[in-house]
Amino acid sequence: MSAFSEKDFDAKGYSKSRPSYPESFYKLIDKYHRGSRFHLVDVGCGPGTATFQLADNLDSFQEIIGTDISATMVERARNRKTEHPGKYANVSFAVSPADDFSFLVGSETAPQHCDMITAVQCAHWLDFPKFQNAVANVLRKDGTLAVWGYADPIFPEYPKLDNLLGEFTYGAKYLGPFWDPGRQVLRNLMRDLHVDTKLFTDVEERCFDSTFIRSKKHNPLLVTKTFTLKHFENYIKSWSSYHSWKKSNRDEKRDITKRFSDRVLQLYPQMTLQSRLQVVWKSFYKLGRRL
Ligand SMILES: C[S@@+](CC[C@H](N)C(=O)[O-])C[C@H]1O[C@@H](n2cnc3c(N)ncnc32)[C@H](O)[C@@H]1O
Repeated sequence: MSAFSEKDFDAKGYSKSRPSYPESFYKLIDKYHRGSRFHLVDVGCGPGTATFQLADNLDSFQEIIGTDISATMVERARNRKTEHPGKYANVSFAVSPADDFSFLVGSETAPQHCDMITAVQCAHWLDFPKFQNAVANVLRKDGTLAVWGYADPIFPEYPKLDNLLGEFTYGAKYLGPFWDPGRQVLRNLMRDLHVDTKLFTDVEERCFDSTFIRSKKHNPLLVTKTFTLKHFENYIKSWSSYHSWKKSNRDEKRDITKRFSDRVLQLYPQMTLQSRLQVVWKSFYKLGRRL
């Protein structure tokens, strides 16, 4: 996924404007996991969004390694670690493709020694079968694979904005042409890709779409954040499609995010750029236990 790997990608803006994941979800993974807790690898870790949360919320893993193909993201993750001196001594980061675990030093007798592997908000860009095979090679028996992500927020208090954001995200006149193919997989909440039952057992796969969110049923992966409209523009600027739009429209004086805010203000004239909007993302997770 090239946009995040580019040197000028705003990894700091990304970590400031993206949501993190609820404690309830880490409790769910904690309960799911069986056995030892030596090594956890968080692939596609970006600026360490889930990596630090895994360290904070899961019952003590000895070593947590975040990996990402983007050196820009890994640098940001390492900088975030230095913002917490003395904390996260068991967390480190490495530049690595998600399906390469060669940095793990196994032994001939115990090549499969990883206890948990997570792929958060990145699996839609991977060759999922190939990734699962690579995971299966290093995950010990009963080790946990946890994949989760989110897409396309809805605005529970301002339903008219859902269509507007949909058009802005995918419409041909807006950011639609600037996504790469993985986006369709994410947009579909990875429904068509499944944990391989030849490699994993106790598989759990769940999706929380807009109907589910509006039903207000219990959602263990409730990904939510409150933005001002102005800060929501910054969230849009963290999208890979925005980064690609910007590259193709260097001379454009009016930022494309303004076109979104202008339409919001037309639809809801009582709003201002400082108005606060709660957003809830559609989300999904997939869990498996190594056979
Ligand atoms: C949307 S970010 C998610 C970051 C973080 N996991 C989170 O939850 O916010 C996706 C990350 O996946 C990384 N990525 C994409 N393809 C990858 C691959 N084949 N191998 C490793 N990382 C990859 C990108 O560089 C990017 O940092």
